[in-house]
Amino acid sequence: MKVLRSISALRDYRKQLAGSVGLVLTMGFLHEGHLSLVRRSKAECEYTFVSIFVNPTQFGPDEDFGAYPRDTNRDLKLLENTGADAVFLPGAGEMYPPGADTVVVPGKTAHRLEGAARPGHFRGVATVVLKLFNLIQPQRAYFGQKDAQQAAVIRKMVADLDVPVEIAVMPTVREGDGLAMSSRNTYLNPAEREAATVLYRSLKLAEELINGGERDAEIVRQRMTELISAEPLAHIDYVSVADAGSLDELAFVIRPALVSLAVRIGRTRLIDNVTLT
Ligand code: PAF
Repeated sequence: MKVLRSISALRDYRKQLAGSVGLVLTMGFLHEGHLSLVRRSKAECEYTFVSIFVNPTQFGPDEDFGAYPRDTNRDLKLLENTGADAVFLPGAGEMYPPGADTVVVPGKTAHRLEGAARPGHFRGVATVVLKLFNLIQPQRAYFGQKDAQQAAVIRKMVADLDVPVEIAVMPTVREGDGLAMSSRNTYLNPAEREAATVLYRSLKLAEELINGGERDAEIVRQRMTELISAEPLAHIDYVSVADAGSLDELAFVIRPALVSLAVRIGRTRLIDNVTLT
């Protein structure tokens, strides 16, 4: 497995590859969710690249950029074992040299939900993702459904800016009790880890209600809110029942609907979602 730490090394290596390239973009501290994307890329593309870069521009000033878990040696071992061909591991100065001030400003898809809760977040995501697409030039890029809005923002950017890459979104990988895998789960102490199951339980409740015929989206949001509020360690950021395409909040449930939520468990902010098709 080739480990590339500079843009010049990446460009030299990339030039030599003739076949299709699949890309998995990550911020490291890899888990089974990331590795499932790597496996998918390996099955579908001749070469699989993984990028590891904790992107400072997508964190707000009061967010967890400094505390974000990092373990490059462990990540490289996992990727070697999974069979990635190349890992791009740039430093922040390599990605944002002094004076760099051009950004991608996503449109309406980025305004709600995570975009409303984390101002500037999707501008940072879209900018770094476009840079990584331009550098690595993949034919396909793989994202997790856990970050459903991120996938929607990137799809829209790729369509609007004519970026020649296919976006594949793969199912959320969950722990045995339903908690969506996330590098941020490592922040949780045992009591918080237990409480964190409330996200998936509330999504399951929404699914049951809607599959059982409930069409009033506000009732679904209320029932989810009640369930989460009964968990003392949980504090709701938002609970949403939205149109899966536009992300507009629904009054009446039509499909496909994206049921999503952001909840703070202690000091850890977790997100999750299900799509009802
Ligand atoms: O999903 C993530 O880990 C990040 O937002 C991404 C896509 C790697 C961009 O920094």
